[in-house]
Amino acid sequence: MSIKRTDVLRIAVLASGRGSNLQAIIDAIEAGTVQAKIAAVISNKKDSPALERASRHGLSGFFVDPKPHASESDSRGSYDRALLSVLRQHDVELVLLAGYMKIVTKVLVEAFANRMMNIHPSLLPSFPGLDVQKKAIDWGCKVAGCTVHFVTEGVDEGPIILQAAVPILDGDSADSLAARILVQEHKIYPQAVQLFAEGRLRVEGRRVFIEQGKPAGEAAFGLS
Ligand code: GAR
Repeated sequence: MSIKRTDVLRIAVLASGRGSNLQAIIDAIEAGTVQAKIAAVISNKKDSPALERASRHGLSGFFVDPKPHASESDSRGSYDRALLSVLRQHDVELVLLAGYMKIVTKVLVEAFANRMMNIHPSLLPSFPGLDVQKKAIDWGCKVAGCTVHFVTEGVDEGPIILQAAVPILDGDSADSLAARILVQEHKIYPQAVQLFAEGRLRVEGRRVFIEQGKPAGEAAFGLS
């Protein structure tokens, strides 16, 4: 299915913490290298620096409180239904998880199939989960990196869109490696968003193909 877009791609960024990847997307949009509009920044943390960044740039920021959902039997699903409502109110077409430290359920995964991305600080499928820079060093890996992927129900498991590699140096700590990886995160996340905005990402099973440029104004959705 192909949808002719007349307006700019509307994205939402979900972030729990520092928000440096959010900032990279904001900067790329402001510089004109990403053609998109951030329709909403959403956090599960009230005092998240990501929400402060949103406010500094005049973007709509929302704290969606997990607490009212905690007592429900399907607390994660219930929370994601609340998120979905915010996303729909803002006509969001693409969702970006950027340091969003909550597991998303099929409520969001199905509503945004092949329209939700995540950035992860390892070369997936190696080292999903947490503390991944330390794990890469402890394993004796020589190369680490980061991955932008579409989000599926399995944590850090979806089809890979872009990756960037960085060497692991003998003197690296988890922090020094994380800092070097972060520089690359800030490059490949905006690139992935722009490829999506240009309708150039085609998903076949686990594989994401980057197509040649399409005519302006046309974007491919309904990626199989
Ligand atoms: C980034 O390194 C991102 O890759 C990682 O959290 C950090 C968030 O930084 N995400 C994950 O580990 C998700 N599995 P930021 O808030 O400054 O963008």
